[in-house]
Amino acid sequence: MKIFVDTASLAEIEQAVSWGILDGVTTNPTLMSKAGASDFKTHLKKICDLVQGPVSGEVISLEPDGMLAQARELAAISPHMVIKLPMTVAGLQTCKKLHAENIPVNMTLIFNPAQALLAAKAGAAYVSPFIGRLDDISHFGMDIVRDIVAILERYGFGASCLAASLRHPLHVVEAALAGAHVATLPWSVLEKLVHHPLTDLGIDRFLADWKKIRPEGW
Ligand code: E4P
Repeated sequence: MKIFVDTASLAEIEQAVSWGILDGVTTNPTLMSKAGASDFKTHLKKICDLVQGPVSGEVISLEPDGMLAQARELAAISPHMVIKLPMTVAGLQTCKKLHAENIPVNMTLIFNPAQALLAAKAGAAYVSPFIGRLDDISHFGMDIVRDIVAILERYGFGASCLAASLRHPLHVVEAALAGAHVATLPWSVLEKLVHHPLTDLGIDRFLADWKKIRPEGW
C-alpha cells in the first residue's frame, strides 16, 4: 500500500520525506488554506519538488469549462501534479477529457462504490473514498473501500483506490487489510504509526543492560 501524507504544510511534508516511506501528497482547499498558501501554484511546485511523486491539487470551479482550465493550469506546475476533481457530473466530464490528455485525476469526495465505478469508467487514476466522514455519520466507511477495491480489480480498471479521511492508526491498518492501493494520512496519524510504548521500554532496557558490560558506551 502506498502512503501519501494529507497536508499542505511544507514542514510536515519535509519530515515525511526524510523518513523514506512517503510516496505522495494530497492537498485540498481546506489544507491549502490552513497552510496559508495563497500563492498556490508556487506552493504546489515546492511540494512537488520535495516529494518527487504524485501530488494532488484541487480545482475550485464547479462547471466543466472552468474545471478544465484550472486543471490544465495545475497540471502545468509539474509532471507530478494529479488533478483533484469533485465527484459530480462536471467532474466526470472533465475527468474524461483530462484522461485523454494524459493528465492524471484523483476523483475526490467519494462516498459509495457506485460513484467510484463511474469515476473509474471516466478514466480517473485515483478514486478517493472518505472514510472518516462516513464514520462520522454512523456508516462503516471501510466497507466501501473493500467494495471499491473488488470492483476496480474485477474489471481491471486503471484506477487505484485511495483511502482518504483517515483519522487514526487503526483506519490505516483496516485500509491495508481492505486492499486499498493508497492511504493518505494526516501528519498526526503518520507520527502515531511509528510509536509503541513497548518499543520505547525495550530500547531503555537494552541500553541499561548494555551499560552493565560497557559503561563507556560502544
Ligand atoms: C483527501 O484527499 C482529503 O484531503 C482528506 O483525506 C479529507 O480528510 P478529512 O475528512 O479529515 O477532512
